[in-house]
Amino acid sequence: MTILTEKAYAKVNLTLDVLGKRPDGYHELYSVMQGISLADDVELSLDTGKPWALECGQPGIPQDGRNLAWRAAEQFLSATGRSLDGLTIRICKRIPSQAGLGGGSADAAAVLRGLNRYFGSPLSILELAQLGAAVGSDVPFCVLCGTALAQGRGERLTPMPRIPDCCFVICKPAFSASTPELYRRLDQVPVPRRPDHEAMDQAIRRGDLEGITGNLCNVFEYAVSPDHPELEQIKELFRANGAWGVAMSGSGSAIFGITQTLEQARPIQEALNRAGLQNFLAKPV
Ligand code: C5P
Repeated sequence: MTILTEKAYAKVNLTLDVLGKRPDGYHELYSVMQGISLADDVELSLDTGKPWALECGQPGIPQDGRNLAWRAAEQFLSATGRSLDGLTIRICKRIPSQAGLGGGSADAAAVLRGLNRYFGSPLSILELAQLGAAVGSDVPFCVLCGTALAQGRGERLTPMPRIPDCCFVICKPAFSASTPELYRRLDQVPVPRRPDHEAMDQAIRRGDLEGITGNLCNVFEYAVSPDHPELEQIKELFRANGAWGVAMSGSGSAIFGITQTLEQARPIQEALNRAGLQNFLAKPV
């Protein structure tokens, strides 16, 4: 038996635009995604000689073949023609679920990376990312991590330069959002402001944190805010306490703010704590 461990990093969307519905039912995206140091730990026990198992202490997370991490292992083995005499996946969860932070996708990506390492890297990192698309739209990015432009369903990735060092404050409000439901809603609501992709691209290429934070924009906020006015209140709390920029991630409900330093992040974290809101600090990865 061999035991491997992999970090499963969360993501945020610095920009997220939904361009339209495709004939296959998915939506065409244009999003700059960023990996952050908030992470689950994924441990793989390989060749256990026992039936496959998935262990995760957190209620509400499927502990069987419905879990994206399990499906990623199946995909990897069938694509590479390899086999295992038993697999146990243990996930230590820190990324909140149903938050738009890619938690399940990050775990799946960690499994793909771990198995590829174990079998002597039969797939390149880009091939591994493409394999991840069959598991979920955010998995390819979670395989690559860093900063990247995601297009198509989320699987067409163009790596971008690293963003400058900064601090992310992430807040997970009590409510959660269903991704398919919000895509449906987005097809119906007006979207008054869309991301300025050109400005974000230039700011990243210049290493300009003010330009990056000034251009955070996620169209899903228009689908979430009618039912959840607290979204805008939390964003205001971030701004009032010194965030350089603030936006929702993915289809929510997590909201993230960016500051340049950890010291600048503290007042935001303290205000979130006073308001009883779950929060995390993270760095770009
Ligand atoms: O690919 P994934 O399983 O993460 O997607 C979950 C759901 O989100 C899909 O079933 C679809 O309803 C919606 N989706 C979409 N367009 C995308 C990604 C996801 O409509 N690009």
